[in-house]
Amino acid sequence: MKKRLRVIVLMHSDFLPPASIEGLSEKETAPFQTEYDVVSTLRKMGHDVHPLGVSDDFIVIRQAIIESRPDVVFNLLEEFRGLGEYVPFVLGYLELMRQPYTGCNPYGLLIARNKALTKNILRYHRVRMPDFHVFPRGQSIKPPRRFHLPAIVKSTTEQGSVGISQASVVASADKLVERVQFVHDQLQTDAIVEEYIDGRELYVGVLGHRRLLALPVWEMLFQDLPDGAPRIATERVKWNADYQKQAGIVTQAAAELPDGVERRIVNTVKRVYRLLGLSGYARMDLRLRADGQLFLLEANPNPQLSAGEDFAESANAVGLEYPDLIARILHLASRYNSRPP
Ligand SMILES: Nc1ncnc2c1ncn2[C@@H]1O[C@H](COP(=O)(O)OP(=O)(O)O)[C@@H](O)[C@H]1O
Ligand SMILES: [Mg+2]
Repeated sequence: MKKRLRVIVLMHSDFLPPASIEGLSEKETAPFQTEYDVVSTLRKMGHDVHPLGVSDDFIVIRQAIIESRPDVVFNLLEEFRGLGEYVPFVLGYLELMRQPYTGCNPYGLLIARNKALTKNILRYHRVRMPDFHVFPRGQSIKPPRRFHLPAIVKSTTEQGSVGISQASVVASADKLVERVQFVHDQLQTDAIVEEYIDGRELYVGVLGHRRLLALPVWEMLFQDLPDGAPRIATERVKWNADYQKQAGIVTQAAAELPDGVERRIVNTVKRVYRLLGLSGYARMDLRLRADGQLFLLEANPNPQLSAGEDFAESANAVGLEYPDLIARILHLASRYNSRPP
């Protein structure tokens, strides 16, 4: 018999899932779908599961760990005190308590959640990425004299396509400055402007610490977007189910990749995973241009883990069903050696 583990599932208090989702619509369950899937699956696997919702009080975490002495903390925390940047500090605290937890370590998380920091490291190691320029908040916005247009303007630290719409793709210096200002004012973060890569949108899941497993290459297709609309994963494309239907947005195993491309992708994602010091599990976003050039867009440690999301779907495609995936992530937690990579 498999060992019954005591598991604290650490999440934001807004997303504590109900015991049952019977009768709720997809829209109603969407906010806490991942939390629900993980908690209910762990329970079905026979573990002793304690969901713990937190928002800005970390003494709650300490108390829960001291009281229930969990074997593993299953980390689903996306922000602390309203900031994604604080999650690595919470994990640092777990490290100091010698508490095993799932997913990425604080070093990797801190690096990968910052697109500017990530790209500076990867550029040094000559990983191919779109050319980029960072505009720190609070400094005047001077566009670089020579920059590839069209470009795309993003926040350096937001995720999940937050702040990304079709207006993020800019074709003139004026529009570029306008959109950088938008990121500074509306998202209140630094902005990063990247060369726009016209190409196939690919996602690749990776699991492990040192020995890595790359999941099958997944692709987002934009089947019915109006002509001229940039083929990008905007906030609407990513999160609005009605719009997804209307615009023919589907994600599936990438079909007919040119010879050798899959190999290149797998090598790239594993190399990037190691260069950034990631552990646990992550999803890499890439673009493949028609000329065969492959570009890394970003690395997402602790990606969305709901049963229907790309990460779980791509695991499913190689026979790793959802409970197997959760079991593997749990197992990795106990194997992680917390010394810096
Ligand atoms: N340089 C780029 N060229 C083309 N499309 C891009 C580029 N950067 C981002 N995108 C599009 O915007 C989406 C979100 O950007 P990404 O860097 O992955 O940020 P997020 O952290 O919000 O997921 C990507 O999935 C892609 O569709
Ligand atoms: Mg992304």
